Formats: sequence, structure tokens, C-alpha cells
Amino acid sequence: MGKATLAARPRTILLVHAHPEPTSFTRHLVTVAERTLAGQGHTVLQSDLYAMQWKAVFDADDFPQRLDTQRLSFIDESRHAFAQGCQTADVEAEQAKLQAADAVILVFPLWWFGMPAIMKGWIERVWAYGLAYGYGDAGNAHRYGEGGFAGKRALLAVSVGGPEKDYSPRGINGPLEQLLFPVTHGALFYPGMAVLPTFAVYDTGRMDASVADRATMAWRQRLENLFTDAPIPYRRQNGGDYPDRHVLADDVAPGQTGIMAHVAGVMDSSIPARSPLGVQDGPAGPQKHASATRPISPQP
Ligand SMILES: Cc1cc2nc3c(=O)[nH]c(=O)nc-3n(C[C@H](O)[C@H](O)[C@H](O)COP(=O)(O)O)c2cc1C
Repeated sequence: MGKATLAARPRTILLVHAHPEPTSFTRHLVTVAERTLAGQGHTVLQSDLYAMQWKAVFDADDFPQRLDTQRLSFIDESRHAFAQGCQTADVEAEQAKLQAADAVILVFPLWWFGMPAIMKGWIERVWAYGLAYGYGDAGNAHRYGEGGFAGKRALLAVSVGGPEKDYSPRGINGPLEQLLFPVTHGALFYPGMAVLPTFAVYDTGRMDASVADRATMAWRQRLENLFTDAPIPYRRQNGGDYPDRHVLADDVAPGQTGIMAHVAGVMDSSIPARSPLGVQDGPAGPQKHASATRPISPQP
């Protein structure tokens, strides 16, 4: 199927966002996404986590019909609740939206180098055993590239207070795409989603109108390419690179250790998240990522 055909087909997209302030930049990204995607003829579902007063804490209340009332084993109870259809209604509703979605976009401000707690809690509670892990009740047989969310695309859109320089390959904070690896690789690729390079807007506290306009245009473009952009080439567990399903084969990325060894074709420690301003030329695997820099707002 051609690129134009792929892009044109109407799809369902779930926008999950975490910001209570309607005038925040995060919410601006949500509004642009909603309009752009609906304008393309897609169906847009939303989970506005603050407005929903989403219960962020994963606890005993998540299991109204316990398998074992003496000891709370989250994994055993999750497996039981998902398999027996006795999850809480809010979790079931989010899973239904996910099942309906061809793509999931998580929009959030960067808080302490990750997502706000309410969004982390959404993942913890909605990613049930049998669906997002333990798929097919087969332990770890299906993970990293296959599982309950296979066939879906995922994208993070992040509002970052600090300057891009702090997140550059040798920047003091570390590259954003590496900081978000637990989300992109750990939470999204693990259950099978194809994850696109993160869209990031830096220095959000000091944006003037022209910078905000450029960021908005770049965001629209990323949304228009949601179904045609190349995903981050994470290595699949069952693609041959991990013969024992745990560790890379000696001849794959020889000598490389750490996070970046799990991205095919990346030979250095960078893999910049795509930001709206300018283009960076560094070796970043099969895709070229855009990049930009500006000063700072309150941040750790
Ligand atoms: C609790 C908290 C933690 C933050 N942590 C970071 C951080 O780790 N890195 C960073 O660059 N900015 C950090 N910031 C700044 C936010 O990223 C910034 O306020 C946000 O991008 C602004 O976008 P908004 O208008 O959507 O809130 C933090 C802000 C708060 C309130």
C-alpha cells in the first residue's frame, strides 16, 4: 500500500493527556492534535486524565473480586481480574478505547524526567496481565514487538521546560529519547506497539509567538505523518537478535552495552527526540531527527 493511501485511510486515535490547566502548552498540543486528526477524517478518542479524576494509584481497590484476600499479589490479581472480566469499570473503559485505537498518543509535560504520576498510574492500572504483559498467558513469550497491542502505533508528545542543549547527546540531563526509554521501549514497545520518535518542544516557559507557531506547525506535520513515519527500530525479542529471549547475541551490536544496543542501526549514544526547530545531522539510525535549543523555565 502506498504512503498516501496509508495516510488517507480513516483511523481511530486515542489521545491520552495529563495537564489540568487549559492554557498550558501541553493542552495546546492536545487541541492541535484533536483538530488536525479530526480534520483528516480520523476518529479521535480522548482520555483527559485530570478531568476524569483518574485514580493514579494502583492498589487493592483495583481488584474488587480477589483471588487471594490474604496477600495482594498484583500480577496474580491482574491476571485473574482480566481473564475473569472483573476489573474495575474505569480500567475496562480505557482498555476498550485502546483496543479500538490504531494509534495512541500520550501528551504530557516532562516532570522529573518522566511523565506525571497520573499518567504513570494510567499505564500501571490499564496494562493488565494477559493484555500488555503475560500475553496469551504465555509468560514472556510475546513481548518487545508483539503482544496485546501489536499493530498499533504510539507517539509521545512532550512539553519540556529545559533547553534542548541540556538534552543533547552530551547534555547534562541526558538525551530525551533515552530518558523516555522506559516509556517508549518499556511500556509501549513491550506490549507490541510500533513507537515513533518522540515529539518534543523544549524551553516551553520562554516561547514567543513565532517559536510557538513553528512548534505548532511541526506538530501538525508529525500528526499528518502519524501512519507513515518510520518507528524507532527497536529490536524485537523474537526477531533473532536475542537467541535466549534475554540477552543480545554476541554478534549483534558487538561491544555495545546499555539502552542504545536495543535500537537497530544506532552506533552511538544519541537518538535525539524530534523537536520542531532545525535539523540535527548526527547518526541516529535509519531516521533523521530534527532538533533545537532555547533557554529555561522552572525545572530540576
Ligand atoms: C513537578 C515538575 C517537574 C518538572 N520536571 C522537569 C524536568 O525534569 N525537566 C524539564 O526540562 N522541565 C521540568 N519541569 C518543567 C516543565 O516541563 C514545564 O513546566 C512544562 O514543559 C511547561 O509546559 P506546560 O505549559 O504544558 O505546563 C517540571 C515542572 C514541574 C511542575
